[in-house]
Amino acid sequence: MDYQRILDRVHAAVKPIIGTGNVASYIPELAKVSPAHFGIAIVDLEGQVYRTGDAEVPFSIQSISKLFGLTLAFHLEGDSVWTRVGREPSGTPFNSLVQLEQERGRPRNPFINAGALVVTDILFTHYAARGGAENALIKFIRKLADRPDIGFDRAVAESERRTSHRNAAMANFMKSFGNLNNDVNDVLEAYCRHCAIEMSCVDLARAVTFLANHGVVPWSREEVLDKSSAKRISALMLTCGTYDAAGDFAYRVGLPAKSGVGGGIVALMPGECGICVWSPALEASGNSYAGSIALEMLTSLSGRSIF
Ligand code: DON
Repeated sequence: MDYQRILDRVHAAVKPIIGTGNVASYIPELAKVSPAHFGIAIVDLEGQVYRTGDAEVPFSIQSISKLFGLTLAFHLEGDSVWTRVGREPSGTPFNSLVQLEQERGRPRNPFINAGALVVTDILFTHYAARGGAENALIKFIRKLADRPDIGFDRAVAESERRTSHRNAAMANFMKSFGNLNNDVNDVLEAYCRHCAIEMSCVDLARAVTFLANHGVVPWSREEVLDKSSAKRISALMLTCGTYDAAGDFAYRVGLPAKSGVGGGIVALMPGECGICVWSPALEASGNSYAGSIALEMLTSLSGRSIF
């Protein structure tokens, strides 16, 4: 497959729509990012990189961190994760509170904010006992991306923490139902650090390649998840990874994916490659507008999807 030629065609085609939508502004530090960015990268199972545009520019991964958090928690705890968080699409915005009361503090899925707060609580419990809660997820991502200098942007983390009133409400609410074991502030701070991790499209495409390779990091041969678990995480990406737009996204793109309000979307073609696109202006559900159109074009032009 000539991915480079396809990426160049996609880039040329989306140029007129880059910047359509709105850059996330509820986290003040994110509002400073230019909507004019666009980058896309593919990393195949041999480690070959295809890229175009701003594919090497680091950006705030935001909710894409929820994919790595869940992977790590599932790797550590297995199915017991599902006693505390569900696996159904929510059909509501990623920061909605409404279902939490009806469902007694058990979030619908791990990719909405409430679910990721529970996953962060699981990780916090695991790593606090071992003295490494601060950096555990970052270390895990460094290994997946094969890049030791990945870190988080302190200004973004602090900007989010100062304004994360909705996440604080959810965390307190879940605590009241007994579904958060650690101190609410500790969990919120860890969550905001995770969202503020900075990576480029190339880093992210590389970091999700293990999922395209049935749970095994292709270059190190390390098994992060067994084949069945990798299938399950990928299924959750398809059904819940792009929030209340997940049905439309699956219809248009046909790949498991996970988005973030920084404008990044990771996706994977099982057995083939990891993919990441970045363009900061978002549609109403919080997914990159140009990014999702680029992914739709990529699957149309390549004829490859999971269907
Ligand atoms: O908690 C928040 O609202 C953000 N740090 C992350 C939200 C997010 O990325 C949702 N994505 N589309």
